[in-house]
Amino acid sequence: MKVTYYGHSCFLVETAQARLLIDPFLTDNPLASVAAADVKCDYVLLSHGHEDHTCDALEIAKANDATIVANYEIAEYFGAKGAKSHGMNPGGGHDFPFGRVKLTIAHHTSSLNAGLNPIYLGVPCGIIVEADGKRLYHAGDTALFLDMQLIGKGGLDLALLPIGDNFTMGPADALDALDLLRPRLAAPMHFNTWPPIAQDPQAFVAAAAERGHIVKALNPGDTLVV
Ligand code: NI
Ligand code: MN
Repeated sequence: MKVTYYGHSCFLVETAQARLLIDPFLTDNPLASVAAADVKCDYVLLSHGHEDHTCDALEIAKANDATIVANYEIAEYFGAKGAKSHGMNPGGGHDFPFGRVKLTIAHHTSSLNAGLNPIYLGVPCGIIVEADGKRLYHAGDTALFLDMQLIGKGGLDLALLPIGDNFTMGPADALDALDLLRPRLAAPMHFNTWPPIAQDPQAFVAAAAERGHIVKALNPGDTLVV
């Protein structure tokens, strides 16, 4: 399983049989390492409705004839706009041709067009991908929650965790998340895109190492193989 970081919470996960794009936020992210028009994928997985996770989803899904996989409301929303979509909900898993996707709980919100007329699109989720004998957890945007123990129980080859604070858990809670999840490897996400989520990823890596966790801080464009 090859995982490429595109910035913020966006990753391309390449399995033996499919390319999965998670939480595309490229066009409006000056730190993104790829342009939306250059992304090639077969599936677009979305953790929740916020624009910094979904803004390029429709365009990329249509351009690639890719299937959007998300909670039921988000899947229906993009389905109504002409994308192929597959709706799920927390606790539910589905066997796709490339492997299994399961949605988990996350503590956050899930609106689109926040402002005077926000559209609330279901509940926020985390995403577990099982493919090629590997198990990946993308936490989406979330607070720390004790049920992460259950997510880690099946063994995790890679956990992608927000550390930005303000909108999601910050570094201190993300360290506790590592204690609950116990992944073989983790990478921080959702930091340094804007001033309110400014963090030092290397300080997080060092603090995690003190607790016995292996964390790699990725720059946009970096790739991991797990
Ligand atoms: Ni969010
Ligand atoms: Mn976010």
